[in-house]
Amino acid sequence: MDALEALHTRVSVGRLGGEPPSGDVLEQICRAALRAPDHAMLRPWRFLRIAGEGRERLGDLFVEATRHDEPEASQAALNKAAGKPLRAPMIIVAIARKQPHDKVPEVEQVISAGAAVQNMLIACHALGVGAMWRTGGMAYHAIVEQGLGLDVGESIVGFLYAGEIEGRIKPVPELAVGDYFAEWPA
Ligand SMILES: Cc1cc2nc3c(=O)[nH]c(=O)nc-3n(C[C@H](O)[C@H](O)[C@H](O)COP(=O)(O)O)c2cc1C
Repeated sequence: MDALEALHTRVSVGRLGGEPPSGDVLEQICRAALRAPDHAMLRPWRFLRIAGEGRERLGDLFVEATRHDEPEASQAALNKAAGKPLRAPMIIVAIARKQPHDKVPEVEQVISAGAAVQNMLIACHALGVGAMWRTGGMAYHAIVEQGLGLDVGESIVGFLYAGEIEGRIKPVPELAVGDYFAEWPA
C-alpha cells in the first residue's frame, strides 16, 4: 500500500484480537511514531507497550480509578473497567513529555505526541494491523498516571489499541474537501 492510499483509506478498528504485533511489524509501527514532526527536536514523547498480562494490570488500575471516583460502583461497572484493556492484544500508551521551552509551548509538544499516535495508526493500517486511538476518563486519571509511572509534566495522549482485525472493517466515510477547506482571501 502506498502512502497516499494508506492516508486515504485508514479507518479505526475497534474489534481486535489474535496475537500482538511483533518483530518487524512492531518495529515499523514504533519507528513511524518517531517520525512525528517535532519543533526544536524535543522528542516530547515516550511510549509504553502493554501486552499479555500487562493488560490485566492496566485493568486493575482502571478498576482502582473507577472505585476512587465511585466508591459505590457496581460489580458490573468494575468488570467493565477491568475489561477495557482486554479489547486488543496490545496497547501502546502514548505519553507527552512536556518540557519548558522558550519557543515551543506545551500545546505544540502535545500535538507532536498526537502526531506520533497518528503515524502509528497509519503504519498499522498499511501493515494490515487493526488499530484504534482511545482515551476516555482513564487517560486523564491521576491513579492511572501514577500506576503507569508518569512523571511531572507528562500526560497520556492516547491508548493505541492494536491487533488482528476481527469482523468487518467499516467503510471509509466520504467527506467533501470543500466543506472543510476554503480559499483565503475568498
Ligand atoms: C484523542 C482521541 C481520543 C479518542 N478517544 C476515543 C475513545 O476513548 N473512544 C472511542 O470510541 N473513540 C475515541 N476516539 C475516536 C476514534 O479513535 C476514531 O477516530 C473514531 O471512532 C472515528 O473513526 P475513524 O478513525 O475510522 O474515522 C478518539 C480519537 C482521538 C483523536
